[in-house]
Amino acid sequence: MGMSKWWKSAVFYQLYPRSFQDSNGDGVGDLQGIISRLDYLSWLGVDALWLSPIHPSPQVDFGYDVSDYCGIDPLFGDKELFLELLDEVHRRGMRLILDGVFNHCSIAHPWFQRAARGEKQEWFHFRSRPNNWTSAFGGSAWSWNREAEKYYLHTFLSEQADLNWSNPEVEEAVLDVLHYWLKLGVDGFRLDVFNCYHKDRSYRDNPTRWSPLALLSRLVYPYLSQHHRYDRDRPELRESLQRMRSVVESYDGVLLGETLDEQFRYDNAAPYALDQQLQLTFNFRLLHSKYSAPDFHQAISSWVHDLGSEGWPTWALSNHDFPRHATRWGIRSPEHQLRRMKQLALLSLTLKGTPCLYYGEELGLKEGKLRRAELQDPVGRRYWPFFQGRDGARTPMPWNERGGFSEEKPWLPYGKGVSDVATQQGEEDSLLCWYRQVLTIRKRHPTLQLGAMSLEAEDPQLLAFERTDDEARFRVVLNLSERPISVHIAGEPLCSSASFSS
Ligand code: GLC
Repeated sequence: MGMSKWWKSAVFYQLYPRSFQDSNGDGVGDLQGIISRLDYLSWLGVDALWLSPIHPSPQVDFGYDVSDYCGIDPLFGDKELFLELLDEVHRRGMRLILDGVFNHCSIAHPWFQRAARGEKQEWFHFRSRPNNWTSAFGGSAWSWNREAEKYYLHTFLSEQADLNWSNPEVEEAVLDVLHYWLKLGVDGFRLDVFNCYHKDRSYRDNPTRWSPLALLSRLVYPYLSQHHRYDRDRPELRESLQRMRSVVESYDGVLLGETLDEQFRYDNAAPYALDQQLQLTFNFRLLHSKYSAPDFHQAISSWVHDLGSEGWPTWALSNHDFPRHATRWGIRSPEHQLRRMKQLALLSLTLKGTPCLYYGEELGLKEGKLRRAELQDPVGRRYWPFFQGRDGARTPMPWNERGGFSEEKPWLPYGKGVSDVATQQGEEDSLLCWYRQVLTIRKRHPTLQLGAMSLEAEDPQLLAFERTDDEARFRVVLNLSERPISVHIAGEPLCSSASFSS
């Protein structure tokens, strides 16, 4: 049994297949497109790729509504092409993980269709009366199914029916899916909202949250107005995750779990990264922070503290669900913007833990601005104009001056205001070359991958920490203010974004 823990030193790169590279002129990215860009990814220096879902799906939630866990959606290619991709990734010394969406499946999945007909209905949550649970995508979490003449549960869209994890057959089926892909050579899974798998067996109502914000959200977004005591983070989860881990570990794979955060607290991710559950979980407190040294400090120290010596942190500044950090933490002046983005890259690539980059962040890609008619994300369409949805974070990768993503009109328009891969590759001072440089330094120094970390005391402007092991000692000092600050640094800096004088 391999236990190499390669995932501790690896840098992950999430790519959203619909938007990376189109090869057949339908305006949507595909597997052949990804294959053609693998040389770029190995030039950049990332170690593992995470692909957002590529399985057959009605694409109502763009692949997060799976209708066949063991297939490849024809939109992206087929099984043979996927195996070629996997092979090409491995040939370059990289790894590949899939997105495992097992809290729910599409209502077009044969499992749901069968259940609606009355066969194996216990694979889902069918009830004659709904309780008060709410959907993370708005409204009640229950919808009526005419065929079954019952309500069924969906934590997200009504097209995404929650699987019933209390039924051991469901877990067995998921373990079979894991075996299926791992046997083919896949290196693990990112687990979509894993902490929602189990639900209270007697479907008790969730208690109300009594805060001003919660009351306000009651009308617009009731999900925030409850304590999710009974519809997620259930105790049964622990053993399910341990069983999944032991399957994945027997192939030397990794499980990287997306935690649906406990609002404003962010303390529910760490426990799942302990005790032989998942190797890695996401905690989005840093991602949700204000751009400020004290806020970053608190986000980092609490996450590291909660994980203790057993857990291993994961860091992500952007992903396909949140506005890109170049916009969230953006600043008008292009010069300051570039420095900021360089510091943020340095932060995520030198903190102790596994960084997970999001395609395009290496270019400083900003959130795309879309007109209402261009919106694709069902959540954006539902909540516009209060919330524009997630399309802005999913715009096509700009490869060259003409775009280079597709010969035809892309499914989403290109974002604006950032230069493309080819241009940045030719400019030594670009953000892209900076990412590559920091990735190279990280690869050369195991201290930056596995060394211990000590965070220096909180400061209003500076965020500083040390990485040490028997071999070396690194001090990373970031100036999060817009003014130069003098800092004494012993020795020559390995790299500097020149936002402070030393
Ligand atoms: C996760 C995914 C998101 C998806 C949702 C429902 O949060 O990251 O994109 O819409 O789960 O599957």
